[in-house]
Amino acid sequence: MVKVLLRNIYKSFKHKKKVVDVLSGVDLKIPDGKFTVILAPSGEGKSTLLRIIAGLEVQDKGDVLIDGRNVNDFPPKDRDLAMVFQNYAVYPFLSVYDNIAFPLKIMHLPKEQINKKVRDIAKMLRIDPLLDRKPMQLSGGQRQRVAIARSLVKGTKLLLMDEPLSNLDAQLRTLARAELKQLQKRLGITIVYVTHDQSEAMVLADYVAILHAGKIEDIDNPLTIYKRPVDTWVAGFIGNPPMNLIEGKLEKKHSFVFEKHKVMIPPSVAKRLKSKGSRVIFGIRPEDVKLGSGSIKGRVTLVEPLGSQTLLHVAVGDVKIQIIAFHTRLIELNKEVNIDLSSENAVFFNDKTGRTLMEK
Ligand SMILES: Nc1ncnc2c1ncn2[C@@H]1O[C@H](COP(=O)(O)OP(=O)(O)OP(=O)(O)O)[C@@H](O)[C@H]1O
Ligand SMILES: [Mg+2]
Repeated sequence: MVKVLLRNIYKSFKHKKKVVDVLSGVDLKIPDGKFTVILAPSGEGKSTLLRIIAGLEVQDKGDVLIDGRNVNDFPPKDRDLAMVFQNYAVYPFLSVYDNIAFPLKIMHLPKEQINKKVRDIAKMLRIDPLLDRKPMQLSGGQRQRVAIARSLVKGTKLLLMDEPLSNLDAQLRTLARAELKQLQKRLGITIVYVTHDQSEAMVLADYVAILHAGKIEDIDNPLTIYKRPVDTWVAGFIGNPPMNLIEGKLEKKHSFVFEKHKVMIPPSVAKRLKSKGSRVIFGIRPEDVKLGSGSIKGRVTLVEPLGSQTLLHVAVGDVKIQIIAFHTRLIELNKEVNIDLSSENAVFFNDKTGRTLMEK
């Protein structure tokens, strides 16, 4: 089932007589009860899109549907959703209990009802032993849970989150991330989460939606996005280090040729390839390049030890290739190495449009 449906959303801002087009035809289906992450670099309109769903910003064109109902004319308070911002503002002078109870007090609910709701949600979020504390006396992750408890206490099933972890330090962030993912599964709520951090998106999401140039470029599960990017832009944006992209020529469906080197294309890849010949872009992930075998010779130009693996930069003529080597054997700078680019995970893109040439 679809929880939120965005149909052809347009939004531009006028700034000093200049018009900035931010969203130009966003179509997106956000499934019910899942964790959907909208991923885009900074300034691409993530917050704007989230604010349009929440009703805090009005789109120039297009429709927002929640639970199948068009909510274009609904003010934020009638959209039955909650939003958690980057700084998840909790009131510093109120106790955890009073922070969570706040939205219910505004509704003038009877005291016993408030008490029950606050304790139930606090228990679900495992902050029930902390109800007497002030936000100052909590860890970042606990504070985040208080903010979430407060946003969900009214029984809201749709939670919008705008980079809520960005002001936590790296270690806490990893913890808070894991907690948030478990929480979503436990409560079965729909989360729409925006971030510019692709590793965060990969870890958290059931579905990743990539926003680029005002449109949703792709939406799929994280692994499919990683393995079968729809275009070279996504291939370069997802994955760290990014996918290697090499321009060259396709010879029938059997081999790919660049700088006089020939790469054999495995039958499983050829089977999914929609193009037969001519110029293409070949894509291979750094971990799929085999080192020490194969006929292509390259020179190591940089060695970056990452602990369990090593990132190598290798030059094959003018082509630069990044390789993740999993063995810890010392690899020396300037050394000549053999590499094998023939991989079951290789993909191809159109050399002009950058669009994928692979069947999904
Ligand atoms: N009220 C406004 N007036 C004019 N321009 C705006 C306004 N709000 C946002 N913009 C512009 O719209 C674009 C998108 O902004 P938005 O905040 O949605 O980006 P974002 O993807 O959330 O970025 P970040 O990752 O940095 O938070 C930016 O170029 C921004 O400068
Ligand atoms: Mg933003």
